Amino acid sequence: MIRAFLFDMDGVLADSEGISVDIGIRYFASIGFAATERTFRNALGRGERGFFDTAAAELGIKGKPYSYEEASSFFRREYPKAIMGANIALPGVGIVREARKAGILTALASSAPGWKVRENIRAIGLEEEDFCFIASGEDIRRNKPEKDIYELALIKLGVDGSEAVVFEDSAAGIESGKRAGCRVAALLTTVDSSSAISAGADAVISDLSAATGFSSPEEAESVLFPADEGLVRYGANMIRPLRRRMPSGFMRKRAIEAARKAWENAYAPYSGFRVGAALVSASTGRIYSGCNVENSSYGATICAERNAITTAVAAEGAIGIDMLIVYSDDDPPAPPCAVCLQVAAEFSRPDTRVILVTPHSVEIEYSFSDLLPMPFIFPTMRL
Ligand code: THU
Repeated sequence: MIRAFLFDMDGVLADSEGISVDIGIRYFASIGFAATERTFRNALGRGERGFFDTAAAELGIKGKPYSYEEASSFFRREYPKAIMGANIALPGVGIVREARKAGILTALASSAPGWKVRENIRAIGLEEEDFCFIASGEDIRRNKPEKDIYELALIKLGVDGSEAVVFEDSAAGIESGKRAGCRVAALLTTVDSSSAISAGADAVISDLSAATGFSSPEEAESVLFPADEGLVRYGANMIRPLRRRMPSGFMRKRAIEAARKAWENAYAPYSGFRVGAALVSASTGRIYSGCNVENSSYGATICAERNAITTAVAAEGAIGIDMLIVYSDDDPPAPPCAVCLQVAAEFSRPDTRVILVTPHSVEIEYSFSDLLPMPFIFPTMRL
């Protein structure tokens, strides 16, 4: 029975990792080093010292001019300014109050310094009283992936690990929750589902909004850990979908962004008509993208949608498509051509979302069955 929810902060409740990385880049620039987002790839979820020390090591800086103390005070100065007036709440933060109403205890367990935790709570529209206990980096000596911060939260709440669900977005955090004996729901805000599962996650959800909608601990249990749906038909294939199959608004935004990036790379010197596509894989929650690639011999051209689909199949084998984005500068936005619909039909369900998008923020949504009501599936594959 679930008695407590333990939340990580950054990347789970607050969309602050981008802001932290941006300040990190500015700090290293101030001492003459050109850091990039990649520099901080392994630096997140390790507390503030871990954040800067890992990045400094990545840049090959040993000692001066790097100093953790200076980096920390730079961060302390810049962070409140950067989040002032910004909306950094991730989707679904309402789950904290929903949990309390449902009789579930709540704790925050963040490796960040206490001042940052308090700033973030305010910036996501919550109050410190929404949590029964708040642990920050100063309360423990050993950071995630060690179990200490979650163990401390469990002791303070008086619950056993088996009665608590940890919400985490980083591999180190997932490991920490598992070591404390908790079940872990991994969010796909930072890790992808295969890294989450190999780190030990018990459930993978797109973001917290996919875990809301309960009014008792029993309902929370079935929302978070529903009985395995087993295999589900996607076109010609049986696929085992992620537990939370239908992608949330957050996944939709990420998929649209992936399609837009692919659209920028479209190779269309003949038609001048650029297309980007992205799909969300049902069994992994991963996003794959593609663009149209034209050819001197026009008929050899490949469309964006088929490019995304073949890329996904190369990575995962047979896929299920939960969502397909088509991004083009057309008015109204272009639907997939009939050939691409046929190829998509091999891996789609009638309720697969197809979303047509333009750079002018037009978004038109269809069900796959609206666009291709009677796909051809080879007789032996229909069984
Ligand atoms: N195109 C796509 O990429 N997807 C479609 O579904 C329709 C057409 C591309 C192919 C070609 O490069 C250009 O658009 C004009 O036909």
